[in-house]
Parts: sequence; structure tokens; C-alpha cells
Amino acid sequence: MGRGPLLSADPLRDHKRAVLDADSVREAYRRWAGVYDAVFGGVSAPGRRRAVEAVNGLPGTRVLEVGVGTGLALPKYRRDKRVVGVDLSREMLEKARDRVAGERLSHVEGLLEMDAESMAFADASFDIAVAMFTASVVPDAKRLFAEMSRVVRPGGHLLFVNHFSAQDGPRWWVERAMAPLARVLGWHPDFATTDLLDGTAIVEAIEPCAPIGLFTLVRVRNGAAGGD
Ligand SMILES: C[S@@+](CC[C@H](N)C(=O)[O-])C[C@H]1O[C@@H](n2cnc3c(N)ncnc32)[C@H](O)[C@@H]1O
Repeated sequence: MGRGPLLSADPLRDHKRAVLDADSVREAYRRWAGVYDAVFGGVSAPGRRRAVEAVNGLPGTRVLEVGVGTGLALPKYRRDKRVVGVDLSREMLEKARDRVAGERLSHVEGLLEMDAESMAFADASFDIAVAMFTASVVPDAKRLFAEMSRVVRPGGHLLFVNHFSAQDGPRWWVERAMAPLARVLGWHPDFATTDLLDGTAIVEAIEPCAPIGLFTLVRVRNGAAGGD
């Protein structure tokens, strides 16, 4: 059993993995919406804070947040960023809309029910796209990556914060044992960086986040042309 680097291909992917389609995502997050902030808000807060700090430090104002969920990140963006959020789940978006109205988040320009794997935005509409705890949820993470790349201008930035599966050890076994439960959970416990990134991605940094490196921030430069 090799201890490959984070980006190495995983030769041990012969375990059963449940398929997550758009309907199972909608169904899972219809159930999670009412309790999402209480159950996941705390443990995921440091990773979310880290990702938004990274967004706030980047050039460009047009920000797309895919899988915006209940909008936990929205109050944390710098007010000169213009933020659009998309999500598949109507119930999660309702929570996000309540947050925007309740906290008067005027930098949030839109919250749209939309599939992040096939978005209605023109090419190069954004400077930055960020997916927080969403890449392991979407049915096809490589399609998500390609679509985020399309709607961000060349030289812009794509950011992902996520739990990525362990390479070996007890956590590796637990994550693989949980893999068939993806439809119930609403995410893939065995999600690996190789599920998201192929060899052509311009990865600028892979940074472990608190707590105890459970989450990882991946920073990608979009395409080769242009940029700040
Ligand atoms: C684990 S939640 C993360 C929510 C939020 N980003 C956060 O930091 O709390 C994942 C979200 O991704 C959304 N999602 C999953 N697949 C999607 C897709 N293909 N297009 C848009 N949203 C999607 C789900 O509905 C859910 O709201």
C-alpha cells in the first residue's frame, strides 16, 4: 500500500462507490437544510474562513460561489467583492436568502438555483470561483472544475476547500467503508484530489486547514493566458 503524494493516482479505487446524481443531491440537502448550520457550521468554519480570506486577497471583484448552501460564507466576503451564489438545493438557497436579507448583505448580487456542472453564465464572467465543501458533493467533480474554469476569465482563480480522503491508515479504511453511503450522506466520503484535478490544472497551492488538517484548500490558476 503506497503512501503516494496527495496528487498521485489512487490504485485502490475498487471499493463500491454510490452514484450521486442531481436528484439525490437535492433530496439529501432538502433533508440537511434545516440542521446544516448546527451540524456542520462549526467544524467547517475554519476551512470556510481560510477560503474566503484567500478570495478576499485576490485581485478582481466578480466572485462566483458554487454550492453556496445556506450562505455561511457570505457575510465574510470583503464588501467590494460582488458575489453570486449558485446551488442545486432550493431549501439551502432559501436559508441563504434569509441570511442575505437578515444581515443586509448588499455585496451579494444573486443567489440562483443552478447546476454548477452546467451554468447559464457566459465564458469569463467572473474573476474568481470558489467551491467550499462542494466538490465532493457534485455528481461529477471534473465537470464542475471544467465549468468553473469556463466561467472564470483566463488568469483568474479557482479555489476549493474540501475534505480529501486519506491515502492510508485507519481514516482510509473508515472513508472507504462509508463510500456506499454517499447517497444518504449527500457527499462522497472517499473523495480524492484526483477526482477533482487532472494533470493539466495549474495548482498554485495545496494548504491543510484547521482543524487538524481535516480540510484542504486547493488554489488553482485558471488557464495560461492573461492574469494579474
Ligand atoms: C456540503 S454543502 C456546502 C455548502 C456551503 N458551501 C458551505 O460552505 O457550507 C454542499 C452544497 O453543494 C450543493 N450542490 C451539490 N451539487 C451541486 C451542483 N451540481 N450544483 C450546484 N450546487 C450543488 C448542495 O446542494 C449543497 O448545498
